[in-house]
Amino acid sequence: MIFQIAWVLFLFYKARLMKKRAAILLAAGKGTRMKSASGLPKVLHEVGGDPLLAYPLQIALELHCDPIVIVVGHGGEKVRDRFKRHPHVYFSHQKQQLGSAHAVLSAQKALQNFEGDVLILSGDVPLIQKKTIQQILKIHQQQKNTLSLGSFKTKNPQGYGRVLRREDGKVLQIIEQGDLTDDQLNLDEVNGGIYIAQASLLFATLKKIKKNPKKNEFFFTDLPFLLNRMGHSVGAVLISDPTELMGVNTRLELSHAEEVLQERIRRQWMLDGVTMLAPHRTQIHSQVQLSSDCEIHPDVALLGATRVGEGCVIEQGAILKNVVLGSKVIIHAYSHLENCKVESEAVLGPFARIRPDTLIKKKARVGNFVELKKTILGEGSKANHLSYLGDASIGKGVNIGAGTITCNYDGVHKFKTVIEDGAFIGSDTQLVAPVHVGKQAYVGAGTTITQDVPASALAISRTPQKHVLGYAQRKKKE
Ligand code: UD1
Ligand code: CA
Repeated sequence: MIFQIAWVLFLFYKARLMKKRAAILLAAGKGTRMKSASGLPKVLHEVGGDPLLAYPLQIALELHCDPIVIVVGHGGEKVRDRFKRHPHVYFSHQKQQLGSAHAVLSAQKALQNFEGDVLILSGDVPLIQKKTIQQILKIHQQQKNTLSLGSFKTKNPQGYGRVLRREDGKVLQIIEQGDLTDDQLNLDEVNGGIYIAQASLLFATLKKIKKNPKKNEFFFTDLPFLLNRMGHSVGAVLISDPTELMGVNTRLELSHAEEVLQERIRRQWMLDGVTMLAPHRTQIHSQVQLSSDCEIHPDVALLGATRVGEGCVIEQGAILKNVVLGSKVIIHAYSHLENCKVESEAVLGPFARIRPDTLIKKKARVGNFVELKKTILGEGSKANHLSYLGDASIGKGVNIGAGTITCNYDGVHKFKTVIEDGAFIGSDTQLVAPVHVGKQAYVGAGTTITQDVPASALAISRTPQKHVLGYAQRKKKE
């Protein structure tokens, strides 16, 4: 009896192990064709505001792959720095780039004792979608393949490995561009560089691959031929949307990938209830979150981790980077906002500039040519014209007159300005910080505030106006 229970537990444990899935992300290539003077590794070039590699990594995380091994080489430190904070992520360093088979083999050490399936994704194929990988995984399991890959058909197969099928539809071999015979040149089914393989057979067979004599590299794509010879089956899943398997090797291809991604992002938000007046003139990063009933006008850029609440209107030419908007916020045309938060029903712009660490509270208003930095503008407060408010804390129901300036910088240090609830700051006021204006206080127009203003007081620093009569006539005679 005890033996039987132990046996069942062992089978259960083994089944769990078998179900496990790991991932290898290939990211060692230098990306010579990107022609980057700064030496930025290819997989750190961005689409949709995120590095290329972030996309396959996100899928590997969502599919619960563990471990995820990123094969790095050129600029490995930079890639490591960017992605080391993710869970289950390990790095293997491929010292010399001796080809895709060599790259996958370099991840073997990190996968010792792993028995399940390994998902192999290219760091330079960012448009692949989770549902497509799930489709390949499903067929891989149904057909009990040792290796399965994603392929697509194209009229322009130049550069891709061509997929040759057996009569029963399984893959016979993949032939790389340089090894094609003349009659194979027109084969239109190509390898998308996305694979799922059974781990132990994968590594054992990869070791048998010989260097391609023309390219002097170990080609991963020699694997199907070897597996066939050993009596294992290799499947290819034809992906209907070839853009998903688009590789990025040049900046031109980077721009094509961006175009496809933007189209995809905009389409999804419109289906989720966002109005776009000119979708093709709208840029939205991958991480951005929108809500229904928002209206986005032409030439708007929503960047970084921007989040937009329900019913907001963002007018033409506005740029928002890492901004959080509450509901029913109106951003008038050509405003620029970065790393800030705007609460519900506030109205900003046109031509407002909101710099980092600013909080604009409910129903507040910021008008044209007003710049805010590291400032809290309280509920219902207004700064409608031509002002600079920096390092300021402004209470509720405050009126900031046109041309108000917080003089927050003495050339060395920054100082705070505090303006309490209900204060009225007249036009063309300078507040030389640190300074405090009490509740309900008034500051007369044209005043330079250098001392704290008591609550409910009027502060005025203008010299009394005097008139020199007949001055103009005297001046002309001179
Ligand atoms: C590869 C495939 C080709 C397929 C195409 C799809 C091979 C031999 N060919 O060609 O069949 O149609 O992808 O996009 O695999 N890498 C390393 N270390 C290396 C070499 C490559 O990490 O030593 C990485 C690259 O960074 C890249 C991936 O492997 O992410 C593929 O390598 P790449 O040189 O881009 O292969 P392709 O010529 O595009
Ligand atoms: Ca490639």
